[in-house]
Amino acid sequence: MTDEKIGIAGTGFYVPEKVLTNADLEKIIDTTDEWIISRTGIRERRIIAPGETASSMAEIAARQALDSAGITPEDLDLIIVGTITPDELLPSVACLLQARLGNTTAASFDISAACCGFIYALEIGRDLMRGGRYRHALIVAAETLTTVTDWEDRDTCVLFGDGAGAAVLSKGCDRGDILDFYMGADGAHSSLLEIEAGGSACPITHEVIDQRKQYIKMEGNKVFKLAVASMVSSAQRVLEQTGLTSQDVTWLLPHQANLRIMKAVAKRLHIPVEQVYINVDRYGNMSGATVPIGLAEMDHNGILKKGDLLLMVAFGGGLTWAATLVRW
Ligand code: ACO
Repeated sequence: MTDEKIGIAGTGFYVPEKVLTNADLEKIIDTTDEWIISRTGIRERRIIAPGETASSMAEIAARQALDSAGITPEDLDLIIVGTITPDELLPSVACLLQARLGNTTAASFDISAACCGFIYALEIGRDLMRGGRYRHALIVAAETLTTVTDWEDRDTCVLFGDGAGAAVLSKGCDRGDILDFYMGADGAHSSLLEIEAGGSACPITHEVIDQRKQYIKMEGNKVFKLAVASMVSSAQRVLEQTGLTSQDVTWLLPHQANLRIMKAVAKRLHIPVEQVYINVDRYGNMSGATVPIGLAEMDHNGILKKGDLLLMVAFGGGLTWAATLVRW
């Protein structure tokens, strides 16, 4: 074990150029701009171009994070990617990313924790570094949710977008000091949010494709209630663990699934909505990528100031939940 400080030395993000607006969706499904904005807060989302993948987006986000941390790809000894929409089932996005970066030695693997992918990966990375062997870890969440979106299902297709966010964890860095984590899961609710086909339980066949089982399905209403409750309890738990309260929080960066969920979480935590970082209006729900993209935007735009207390909290398929507190 090492006592050396481990901090967030750099951040980066990428969203595809192609914008899909609510007006565009009005042309393909029975919906309205007014319904989407009032129920979700989403105005537009980004969609990958042909040839773009989780690893290609991850590479751009990663290079930005490495530049801002002042290190090169060769300095990395650990790469962890959170994703539920990998380029391929094998190999991992992390290995594809490592090759894209030209690094040939870093331990590289993916984790599957849906919208909590980044916070889960951050805790795993931080704890592996504490073990002593690693100096610089690249933590990424990259998602192409629009590749598993059913464009005929208006309940879900208005919600999702694509993007990638990255952070570099470095030893000896006193910026972005991670105070603590809280992670949890409850697999009993797994069927509320799932992509049934493509794994061993339901391999892809013509029949499966005809039944549209390769796409994401969600019981939105039930997920909504569980999302609010578990994000609030995760945030409270990590605050308690550190002896802090919500009054100490400078910024709340929640998973960006739905503006109403974020406002409900902030209200229950007694955090003013002005202290909640929001980008769901521009990008929709990018699963695990929403939190690191928000983090990179806050970092690059000078929103985070030295000494600020940042509370990041997420909730997603699994079901999973996670929170972390960072002293900037
Ligand atoms: N346009 C117009 N009407 C619609 C649309 C649409 N796009 N979608 C649904 N409706 C209709 C429904 O058919 C329903 O009509 P009815 O009352 O006649 O039956 C009505 O709108 C209300 O539908 P609800 O599902 O009750 O709407 P709700 O207010 O719950 O909003 C939403 C739906 C936005 C999906 C919300 O439930 C939600 O955000 N859920 C949580 C999402 C989340 O947090 N996911 C977790 C992370 S995702 C991940 O892990 C990948």
